[in-house]
Amino acid sequence: MKRAKISIIGAGNVGATTALWCAAMELGDLVLLDVPQTEGMPQGKALDLTQAGPIMGFDAAIRGTTSYEDTIDSDVVVITAGIARKPGMSRDDLLATNARIVGSVAEQVRRTSPQSVVIVVSNPLDAMVQRAQQVTGFPPRRVVGQAGVLDTARFRAFIAMELGVSVDDVSAMLLGGHGDTMVPLASCCSVGGIPVTALLAPERLAHVIERTRNGGAEIVSLLKTGSAYYAPAAATAQMVEAVVRDKRRLIPCAAFCDKEYGVGGYYIGVPVILGAGGVEKIIELPLTAEESAAFQKSVAAVKTLVETMDRLTAGAASE
Ligand code: NAI
Ligand code: 2OP
Repeated sequence: MKRAKISIIGAGNVGATTALWCAAMELGDLVLLDVPQTEGMPQGKALDLTQAGPIMGFDAAIRGTTSYEDTIDSDVVVITAGIARKPGMSRDDLLATNARIVGSVAEQVRRTSPQSVVIVVSNPLDAMVQRAQQVTGFPPRRVVGQAGVLDTARFRAFIAMELGVSVDDVSAMLLGGHGDTMVPLASCCSVGGIPVTALLAPERLAHVIERTRNGGAEIVSLLKTGSAYYAPAAATAQMVEAVVRDKRRLIPCAAFCDKEYGVGGYYIGVPVILGAGGVEKIIELPLTAEESAAFQKSVAAVKTLVETMDRLTAGAASE
């Protein structure tokens, strides 16, 4: 059987760690690409990862490169290129720089891997996935953003820590943008099939929800030199797996919503079925009035960000 070809653009913390998880999960052959100024770095990381194979027992061809010619005809392209947050910065502070970077990457992806499913990770996530779709011109279902898998993983981890139970038994869902307005859904969270509200006092649940919203910032403030990458990369690898193995996972992703939830043509976090074709289906949940208001607030924040991005990139032939 032909192995999937997975190209990861941006060989920094998230990109290289995504390559590690993808290799360990034997999802396919990997290409790790960075800018020409980093010549040697992606090659060195790829070689290092290759040499982990005999120890960890995985077979994968892993190539490091600064040339898009090595990515030709990828089945999946993961975009992690861009700058990351430092303390005091919000994800939105990255907008102008990363819109330019993601735009230039998307142009290359359009040229070299026109049939690929593109998974965007660069921040601010919801705007960057919109940018990648605008520039590639791919059908929206083939361009999808990673945020919800990470944010629900944080939600699940914090609930498991709070209750002293296995993360395996905690199931969660959330909606909205990858930012302070995200909407963790207590109504969709259960532990061993029991609604979380039956196990956790309201004030502890509120604390967990707030900690989830600030999950990225908490790690930035501890690391001081950058942002999280182990869990973001694991989340991304799970999405790559869903595509290359056609798993049809029901997970939260940033997907293009038009009529869905009345969003009107923007990428935002919603539950989707992710499979070989990308976003196979968007699941519309019945929301309480409170959840609906919180989601609409999040949509409004993403729209404002995208409008700013569109102004910044208007007229540029090659962003
Ligand atoms: P990093 O600084 O470690 O790596 C970024 C890499 O992108 C660098 O190696 C850089 O040389 C490369 N790069 C820059 N311009 C490029 C271009 N035009 N083409 C190819 N490569 C290019 O940063 P890190 O920690 O890996 O984060 C990457 C991005 O992912 C950031 O924007 C960060 O905010 C975002 N992120 C998103 C998460 C999410 O859940 N959506 C979670 C964690 C990070
Ligand atoms: C995170 O949530 C920075 O978006 C990144 O950790």
